[in-house]
Amino acid sequence: MTEQDFIPKYSPEILSNGSVTWESPSNIALVKYWGKKENQIPANPSISFTLSGCKTTTTLSYTKKMSEGYSFEVWLEGVEKESFKPKIETFFKRIEAYVPFIKEYHFKIETSNTFPHSSGIASSASGMSALALCLMSVEKELSDVNVIQSVSEESFDDDYFNKKASFLARLGSGSACRSIEGDLVGWGWHKDIEESSDLYGVKYPFEVHDNFKNYQDTILLVDKGEKQVSSTVGHGLMHNHPFAEHRFEQAHENLSSLINVFKEGDLNAFIEIVESEALTLHAMMMTSMPYFILMKPNTLEIINKTWRYRNDTGSKLCFTLDAGANVHLLYPESESKEVVEFIKNELVAHCQNGQYICDQIGFGAKKIA
Ligand code: PMV
Repeated sequence: MTEQDFIPKYSPEILSNGSVTWESPSNIALVKYWGKKENQIPANPSISFTLSGCKTTTTLSYTKKMSEGYSFEVWLEGVEKESFKPKIETFFKRIEAYVPFIKEYHFKIETSNTFPHSSGIASSASGMSALALCLMSVEKELSDVNVIQSVSEESFDDDYFNKKASFLARLGSGSACRSIEGDLVGWGWHKDIEESSDLYGVKYPFEVHDNFKNYQDTILLVDKGEKQVSSTVGHGLMHNHPFAEHRFEQAHENLSSLINVFKEGDLNAFIEIVESEALTLHAMMMTSMPYFILMKPNTLEIINKTWRYRNDTGSKLCFTLDAGANVHLLYPESESKEVVEFIKNELVAHCQNGQYICDQIGFGAKKIA
């Protein structure tokens, strides 16, 4: 599919008002997206586990209006958030060609997260995907009353709905496009995944070994402060980065290798790829110009203790990082009891206020009746 497939045509009848609610999860990348081209096109393919418990619930209420331009208000956990508006305004500008009805309504966006606000867990993936899904539900309602003509009712199926929701979410925040479905989602063109696309995330199409069933992700909250360098700036620094080209190639290779790892259930190879990806992401940050470090001393303490634990016990526990100091610990469900014990005994001391969140692989967003 191309961008053109996501542009609808309109006839004048329009719904006057209504409201939709979606809950959408966060995701954690195994092969990382770091570096992008124009229009939120990723410089390399990535793949992620969709999470289950860490999610955003968004209700979008819409009322037909007469005035020109965008009109919306944003509420987080019952409090109006003026500070969220510029990001949503930018999002609306990027998606207007694909959802032209956004100019015709006033929107009230009410959102809440299951994870604590400013926990250092990025809410952009779950938040932008939830909003994109709400907009798709409005588009579907419009199409149900035969307003949108370019997409016939038959082709407005779940596949189109999910692809376009992912396409829109990507324009809000790149990694958000991987939060629509589960349990493994790839984004970015890759030679071994025929259906892969730079424009939207696709559900991983190949066999996945039972070793990965209900895979656990415990997120250790190391630093809840505002990041010193935003993802947007970080992605930008991959332009003219001395190691960029090699890094992008490496992501393609790691994704190729993971296909066999998922099939065979090879947890040692999984650990090697996932930890190397996490450290490579941070190595890119440390070697850009200007350079920066998002890990904290406690991030390194946790990594070292994780390695020691694995050495001592033969566990398959491993870590990954996103663009921050928090650590995601990934492990098979069969090890849950021992690993949680290890976290409580050894790692909680390195978490801010002793906070951590136990999550696991999930199956994507859900519409709330
Ligand atoms: O979606 P963004 O623009 O916030 O970028 C996220 C990038 C990483 O989380 C570091 C990696 C990834 O693939 O999710």
